[in-house]
Amino acid sequence: MRLKDQVALVTGGSRGIGRGIVKAFAAEGAKVAFIYKGSQQAAESLAVEISAAGGLAKAWQGDVANHDEAMKIVELVEAEWGSIQILVNNAGVIRDGLFVAMKPEEWNVVLQTNLGGTFNFCHALAMKLARQRKGRIINISSVAAEHTNPGQTNYAASKGAINSFTRALAVELAGRGVTVNAIAPGFIETDMSENVRNKAGDLIKKMIPLKRLGQPNDIAKAAVFLASADAAYITGQVITVDGGLSLGAVAV
Ligand SMILES: NC(=O)c1ccc[n+]([C@@H]2O[C@H](COP(=O)([O-])OP(=O)(O)OC[C@H]3O[C@@H](n4cnc5c(N)ncnc54)[C@H](OP(=O)(O)O)[C@@H]3O)[C@@H](O)[C@H]2O)c1
Repeated sequence: MRLKDQVALVTGGSRGIGRGIVKAFAAEGAKVAFIYKGSQQAAESLAVEISAAGGLAKAWQGDVANHDEAMKIVELVEAEWGSIQILVNNAGVIRDGLFVAMKPEEWNVVLQTNLGGTFNFCHALAMKLARQRKGRIINISSVAAEHTNPGQTNYAASKGAINSFTRALAVELAGRGVTVNAIAPGFIETDMSENVRNKAGDLIKKMIPLKRLGQPNDIAKAAVFLASADAAYITGQVITVDGGLSLGAVAV
């Protein structure tokens, strides 16, 4: 077990990629605290599923965009399980639409959740990880940071900023034994990508050299690696996990 007895905190663990990461971390022996915002039933069922499989995970309700809530959740998790060693900033939202028609609220909620949520939990934990001279921060970015489609100015801005933030924070925390990396997923089969998948149909698979959509577990495996001792010498990197999508080739 690669994460035995470590305490991990995963934001947005109730559904999709985060859910996959929570399961994979628990299967590797970590105690996993995960945050959800509205999907209480899904969150509770995940904790039960993991417990039935012999693991340990607990759901915490909160809004990652709220700094006070992030600080409070970190305190509560540490009061229950002791120091956190691994943070995964996964919670994210989209509000797609062409820029000329974009409402300020659609810009704000995407930046405040994706980038603001990443700031809030890093801010709540960075000093603690630095003091214990051990820690892993993994930010979930997107290939959209570099290869964007129309209708995603807000989302691309949030993910591009996450990549820059990841590199900048990695430089600050490296001397303290804390690594900071990002994972940039391509098209992953979750609720978030449902609209695009429905609209684009088979065209998506033609854009992916490995000829299939990604699954949450494809991202979870990369997150386990980055959280594990095997990735001790990797920091400040954005690791793309997209089946080759960002190579820009049309599959033959
Ligand atoms: N799916 C893809 O193709 C894809 C591609 C590239 C990058 N990503 C990134 O991967 C991450 C996960 O995406 P996904 O596809 O798994 O999305 P998803 O299926 O829509 O799940 C989003 C998760 O984030 C949580 N969340 C959203 N807003 C929150 C908030 N304000 N506070 C706390 N939790 C919040 C949701 O919790 P509730 O359900 O409880 O609200 C849910 O657990 C995101 O950062 C996304 O940008 C996804």
